[in-house]
Amino acid sequence: MNEARIVHLVSEDVSVIIVQDDDSLPVILHWGVRLPVEDETLRAFAAAEERPGLEDVSDLPYRASVLPEHSAGWFGRPGVEVQRDGAAWSPRFSIRAVALDGAEMAAGELRTHTGAVTFFAHDAFTEIELELEIDLQSSGLLRTRTRIRNASSSPAPLEVGSVLVSLPIPVRANEALDFTGRWAHERIPQRHPIVHGLHVRESRRGRTGLDATMLVAAGTPGFGSDDGEVWVGHVGFSGNHEHALERTDSALAFRGGELLLPGEVRLRSGEEYVTPWVFGSYGVGLDAASHRFHDFLRARSRSSRRPRPVTLNVWEAVYFDHDEATISALATEASQLGVERFVLDDGWFRGRRDDRAGLGDWTPDPAAWPGGLRPLAEHVRGLGMEFGLWVEPEMINEDSDLARAHPDWILRARPELPALFRFQQVLDLTNPEAYAHILATLDDLIRDVGISYLKWDHNRDLIDAGHPGTGRPAVHEQTTAVYRMLDELRRRHPDLEIESCASGGGRVDLGILERTDRIHPSDSHDPIDRFHILRWTGLLVPPEMLGSHVASAVSSVTGRTHSLPYRCAVAFLGHFGIEWDIRSLAADEREQLAWWVSVHRRFRRLIQDGRPVGGGELDPSGPAMRGIVAADGAAALYTIVTPPVAADTRARVRFSGLDDKRDYRVTVSAPESLGPPWQVPDWIRDAPGIDADDDAGVAFSGAVLRLVGLEFPTFHPERAAIVRLTAAG
Ligand code: GLA
Repeated sequence: MNEARIVHLVSEDVSVIIVQDDDSLPVILHWGVRLPVEDETLRAFAAAEERPGLEDVSDLPYRASVLPEHSAGWFGRPGVEVQRDGAAWSPRFSIRAVALDGAEMAAGELRTHTGAVTFFAHDAFTEIELELEIDLQSSGLLRTRTRIRNASSSPAPLEVGSVLVSLPIPVRANEALDFTGRWAHERIPQRHPIVHGLHVRESRRGRTGLDATMLVAAGTPGFGSDDGEVWVGHVGFSGNHEHALERTDSALAFRGGELLLPGEVRLRSGEEYVTPWVFGSYGVGLDAASHRFHDFLRARSRSSRRPRPVTLNVWEAVYFDHDEATISALATEASQLGVERFVLDDGWFRGRRDDRAGLGDWTPDPAAWPGGLRPLAEHVRGLGMEFGLWVEPEMINEDSDLARAHPDWILRARPELPALFRFQQVLDLTNPEAYAHILATLDDLIRDVGISYLKWDHNRDLIDAGHPGTGRPAVHEQTTAVYRMLDELRRRHPDLEIESCASGGGRVDLGILERTDRIHPSDSHDPIDRFHILRWTGLLVPPEMLGSHVASAVSSVTGRTHSLPYRCAVAFLGHFGIEWDIRSLAADEREQLAWWVSVHRRFRRLIQDGRPVGGGELDPSGPAMRGIVAADGAAALYTIVTPPVAADTRARVRFSGLDDKRDYRVTVSAPESLGPPWQVPDWIRDAPGIDADDDAGVAFSGAVLRLVGLEFPTFHPERAAIVRLTAAG
């Protein structure tokens, strides 16, 4: 242990203690709450935690490294699964060097650091070199990435089966929360005890997936939005991947990585494979863990640069029925409501009269748009709005000029074409010619039409996605090709914003979100469903990146009918927009919608910069809350929704995130009211002990609001209110 390197990665409230002893791969001894420890204490802790490896054979279980090795006596999933010609399947890595943000660290050194530590290792027998980065960001977000190089001169390639990192979690975290879903019902929570074995959530869909868990949380019993210790894992990749919790006789860990198909990554001499980033976020309560992901995205996304423009997307207004006069009229109406970005959705390009044809032919359909898209784009800009356009660049319809000209540009694992899915196939972007063609087409469109926003869709799972010709799996390369294309378009168009959509929320992960600025969380705008989709997707994605549209009273997906204030209140805490044929609005509806747009514009900076919080979502019989608290704690907005079925007539809502030391004035936009905008309803004003002076609101202590909460009436099902809190004095 004397020669051990000890790295204490720290952020303000998180510690990660890593020990690298002898020449073995590093072990994380602690990932969790920040420890105020001196060097000597750290050394003593590391020594006390020491456990023998295989050489000292003992009954004590091997302590798993960040990439646990079977050769060292680990019997769970190996960190690195490889083989070369049926051998080299059980590597044992030796550390060659360790660097802290580039500066070499000597054996025996102990360092406390914020940033990255990189371990350089090799295995002389299997002739593999490995680089493992562990990075603790100043926000407390942990991320790791591995690079594997075939250092052998053998002509036999090194096949990489999987690289799955292991982030240890204390076994007292014995409850898991992950998510499932389907089209229009993304992010349905499932909570369950953690038992011995592997709980694995795979995506083999070639996209993140509508059913993708997005993240896996393990927490102490009963953990919630603002209480209980929670460890969250996430794999930042949009192709096949796996999230797992692995509980063995000695440990619990989050395991995550890309899911590689058979033979998908075969490294020839000198070639390397780099894994996606795998993230870990610790916090007291889910919200604290979630804020670290938000910080990461906010530092990268173009959406944090300027106020989020209120958007109108025409999809649910016109579907494929494109007619220049109708859509121009919609634009005019939209601008009168205060809309700032107008997005033309699917149906604008050659041959696209329904979803059976046209994908790949990215020029305006002459029947619908005889003069091209420029006249509409100019009309939109003339009204003071930005112009955005829907595209689905990774896809192709067999009924398209592109498929007729290049039938060999379609991914397939077998001689025949894969099964159709929404009548479409996947364009082979790993083919340099197809890639160059699509990149040039998009680039030209953006310049010619003056597009400042792309809604980038991806409407099918990848079935049998092989390279045409060889049939070898192509999901990995296809995914990285899409990333390259997005990076290149953003490089060429520094102000272009991109929305990630995949049949709704089928592509939500940090891999795609590092290169896009907003997501379309779901095709369901039904506020009952949408509230929960926004809340749970919001654990990973900050509110200003969550597309949040008000649609028609009768939901196109569920057929349920909801009032306008309810729909608006649920959509309020996000990147607000409209997806509805607003030409048919009655005068009072138009007035109400314009009011919501203007109020949203007034408060959007708070939504965009504040800290999201939630509560009550796991109890379907009580009210649920989504809120956003200003970074300085001086103001907050909460959406409260009553449940569809409630046995109780009143229920308390606690306002998490508030500053206990401040007093707050509470005002409420009552569900069915249009004005005055922020009222104090009777049920608050008349509550005993309340100092209700005027309509400026009732003053409460932050501690009372946070810890005890206010009672809300729950006898009206499916109502929503926006509660506004402002620090008094
Ligand atoms: C997907 C999207 C929708 C819409 C349609 C267009 O389903 O999720 O918002 O863009 O495609 O075909």
